[in-house]
Amino acid sequence: MTSSSSRQTLLAEKLIHPQFPRAANYDLEWQFQNAMGPNPLWLAESLSEVLELAPGMRVLDLGCGRAITSIFLAREFGVQVVAADLWVQPHDNWQRVVEAGLEATVMPVHAEAHDLKFAHGYFDAIVSLDAYHYFGTDDLYLGYLIQFLRPGGRLGIAVPARTDEAEGTVPAHLKDEWEWDYHSFHSPEWWRKHWEKTRKVHVEHADMLPDGWLHWLRWEQLTAIEGPAEWREGSAAWAVKLAEDAGRSVGFVRVVARKPGA
Ligand SMILES: C[S@@+](CC[C@H](N)C(=O)[O-])C[C@H]1O[C@@H](n2cnc3c(N)ncnc32)[C@H](O)[C@@H]1O
Repeated sequence: MTSSSSRQTLLAEKLIHPQFPRAANYDLEWQFQNAMGPNPLWLAESLSEVLELAPGMRVLDLGCGRAITSIFLAREFGVQVVAADLWVQPHDNWQRVVEAGLEATVMPVHAEAHDLKFAHGYFDAIVSLDAYHYFGTDDLYLGYLIQFLRPGGRLGIAVPARTDEAEGTVPAHLKDEWEWDYHSFHSPEWWRKHWEKTRKVHVEHADMLPDGWLHWLRWEQLTAIEGPAEWREGSAAWAVKLAEDAGRSVGFVRVVARKPGA
């Protein structure tokens, strides 16, 4: 563990970036302690560049983890957020919501992505940040999920990705650190086809998040030093691979689709 002042310096170096001015306003310890993967606020801010959010909209944050993106979206855009997650209990998330003073706009719930209890057509937007790839890669899931969107509503995700699609293959230079579940990382073109083939949505946007690999690298460099002990070795090894790859094969994808109608 580094000293307190060098920890603060490192957090500032890795969690503040001019590309994400909104996220920079949030307490760095709060961000780091509650993030469950590469900077969720950066993913949310980046998605908000391509997914319009307006005050009063009803938004589902699916796989919200510790709900920091739900808090961020409610505060930054004035939206009403249902913060839904499987592994993190709503009571824990409610504490963070209360501390943020957002009791009127963020509602934490326990939810399994395949067994949602919401009214059909309820949400204006569904977002999923570093979570959709856990449950959304099968052919039937999109059709299920968009039942909960109103006609004209939008689904937006930001998840780890491959730049190209060579399904079942592993980039040779990443082989040593490639976990089996990284096969859920797909390219923007893969996501576009995966959603459009259903003819249930129109994909409005699908790209690699600009410098997404660099943002991911910053996160791994930070967790390699300041993260939980059991993460450090893996983070350090993956950081080396991300640096070697330099965005050729992996990064983050943003995908936004609109449900027809309205
Ligand atoms: C890597 S964490 C990301 C959490 C949060 N979005 C963040 O970036 O900090 C993935 C999240 O997906 C959620 N998740 C995974 N499978 C799920 C499922 N079947 N239904 C609902 N949530 C799920 C987990 O509970 C977990 O919090």
